[in-house]
Amino acid sequence: MLQSMQIEGGYPLVGEINISGAKNLALPAMVTTLLTEDEIILNNVPDLSDVHSLLGLLEYLGCDINIDKVNSKLILKTTNIKYTEAPYDFVRKMRATILVLGPMVARFGAASVSFPGGCAIGVRAIDLHIKALQLLGAEVTMDNGFINVCAPNGLKGCEITFPIITVTGTENSIMAAVLAKGTTKLINAALEPEVEALCNLLNSMGAKITGQGTSIINIEGVEKLHGTTFDIIPDRIEAGTYAIASAITHGKLFLKNCIYKHLALFFNTLKLNGISIEEKQNGVMVENNNDKINPINIRTAPYPGFATDLQAQYMALMAISGGTSLITETLFENRFMHVSELNRMGANITIKGNTATVKGVNKLSGAQVMATDLRASASLILAGLFANGTTTVNRLYHIDRGYESIDKKLQQCGAHIKRISI
Ligand code: EPZ
Repeated sequence: MLQSMQIEGGYPLVGEINISGAKNLALPAMVTTLLTEDEIILNNVPDLSDVHSLLGLLEYLGCDINIDKVNSKLILKTTNIKYTEAPYDFVRKMRATILVLGPMVARFGAASVSFPGGCAIGVRAIDLHIKALQLLGAEVTMDNGFINVCAPNGLKGCEITFPIITVTGTENSIMAAVLAKGTTKLINAALEPEVEALCNLLNSMGAKITGQGTSIINIEGVEKLHGTTFDIIPDRIEAGTYAIASAITHGKLFLKNCIYKHLALFFNTLKLNGISIEEKQNGVMVENNNDKINPINIRTAPYPGFATDLQAQYMALMAISGGTSLITETLFENRFMHVSELNRMGANITIKGNTATVKGVNKLSGAQVMATDLRASASLILAGLFANGTTTVNRLYHIDRGYESIDKKLQQCGAHIKRISI
């Protein structure tokens, strides 16, 4: 049964939203179980369909899984692996399964992963993942749609320079290098908080990583890694999405557990838009008591730049700003699919190359709209919270990949939003 989200717009959101664990840390954190036969305990794991997809693959590979849903806890133990192959059916559901490559070849000397296709937002190349593994001494072949990696004599530390910053490319390289002989130096590594937290998790397992959070990361290979217990950091993209929900509805939302510094540039942009942002003891207060939103241009960039994963949501806010703003997407070649749906709600957005020109309008009208990818669906829900009348967002499976109980969290703050089966 397909599900849609039905939203009656025009209600200011007031209250507190508990920010869940970060999807883009939970996924790499889960695959660290492949690096040790000991138990890995992860706390604050978000209840998302992407997490469940990856659990399906880990179970197929031979991982023992205990899910404590009430406490958002995952207990993983990979004493003996049945396969070192990630079949197409798992990979096609979620590209991030490519993250099993590094740890599998590091611990077992071999791994095969079905070549992940592109997705709605772009080709999503993985050439840099492969290059890094080859530099670490692995042989990589591709046939029948599979990437086969083998390193029968183990991996050897080396220097890897990334020509462009890649988040999962950095993560795969780190998880391959932690058990390599010798030291690996990553240059132009990703700085994302999720990458830094993954390194801290691996160090709690006995890895020897330094430089995380900077563009130069050093990994001194060790013989073995042991188990650990680790807390997943709050999801900065979820938090940023709800910050815009507060701004677009002229509301006042407290984002509990949000880490201000993970969204510093984004929050500074919202302040320029005229939104009040206040860092508190255990979260961030976001309030909009201005009549009009100031239009501010943005360009997406790797962390600490403006997150590409917040671009679609920001566009919904700019669609109702008091002027014209330019939004440039520099990371993915097709991440403007929310534009046509926003325009169907009355927005006035045109695209030239990788820049959208957003002319603010006074009102949006509710409509039937189609979600195309995870963050585009968030953008449409945000627009629906503002629009006059009813907005129905179809293909809801996109949103459930990355937002835990988004309807419940919004309902608790006064949103007129409900899930319907069609
Ligand atoms: C991660 O994807 C995130 N996913 C994405 O979040 C996020 O949008 C992206 O980083 C950028 O911040 C996870 O962490 C699971 P990249 P990733 O490799 O690692 C090119 C969401 O909504 N590239 O940093 O796949 C690539 O084409 C998702 O939560 C190569 O050319 O992104 C892109 O243009 C969407 N060759 C750029 O680099 C490679 O080998 C950045 O991609 C790898 C990447």
